[in-house]
Amino acid sequence: MPTLRVAFVQGRPRFGRAAENLERGLALAAGVEAGLVVLPELWSSGYVFSSHREVAELSEDAATGATARALTGAARREGRYYVAGFAERHRGRFYNSAMLVGRSGVRAVYRKLHLFEREQDWFSPGDLPLEVHRVGPARVGLLICFDWRFPEVARALALMGADLLAHPSNLVFANAQEAMRTRSLENRVFAVTANRTGEEARQGGKVRFTGRSQIVDPDGHVAARAGVREAVARAVDCDLALARDKRLTRRTYLFRPRRPEFYRALTAGRSR
Ligand code: ACM
Repeated sequence: MPTLRVAFVQGRPRFGRAAENLERGLALAAGVEAGLVVLPELWSSGYVFSSHREVAELSEDAATGATARALTGAARREGRYYVAGFAERHRGRFYNSAMLVGRSGVRAVYRKLHLFEREQDWFSPGDLPLEVHRVGPARVGLLICFDWRFPEVARALALMGADLLAHPSNLVFANAQEAMRTRSLENRVFAVTANRTGEEARQGGKVRFTGRSQIVDPDGHVAARAGVREAVARAVDCDLALARDKRLTRRTYLFRPRRPEFYRALTAGRSR
């Protein structure tokens, strides 16, 4: 049976302290055995920006920045994969991004498709296609925080063959963790939500984050969950065969009965 042990890291980064945040995140990760470790959204920079200048100063090149260097070093030393959120600078634009890193370095970048609140002032919306990546025996899709509210993202990744969703987050809505159980159930995939804790109060506003990072199985059961405030890493063995078995009952499958010809409104463009 193909199995991947996956973990989340939950904690509270300090705004603007990339080196310190990366060191703390990796120290928490060092306490768990897992083939893939997921850290929260914008882990290296912090979340509440107050100016475009700050965004520019704290954004990184995906291949050569502080997050890429720290995670590549850890992935090589520990022989495993990492996913973490970071502010990305690319050709004069800024993105709320996540990188997948392995022993050979940065393997993939995902740019958040659905920006939340003031993120829209600071970042460009994601412009890269959704992709599924090999992580050891698993196929992993990435989404970031508020993307949870758009079930199309998880569904598209599952239809592309994802066994597991890696979900770096800075969640603010109290019901997001429960909704992610539904994303898992309706797609029969594992989902690892790595959320941050605490409150960030800066000139740009005050935001409180909900913690409760979790790993959910393809039946929507919570296999591991952190508290609201703790700084912690937790790991779970994911039996990938469960995610690949899309049969619900003897004669009924999850994806085969879909009727996409009736779903055209989903791809018909923008609405309110
Ligand atoms: C969020 O998308 N960080 C709420």
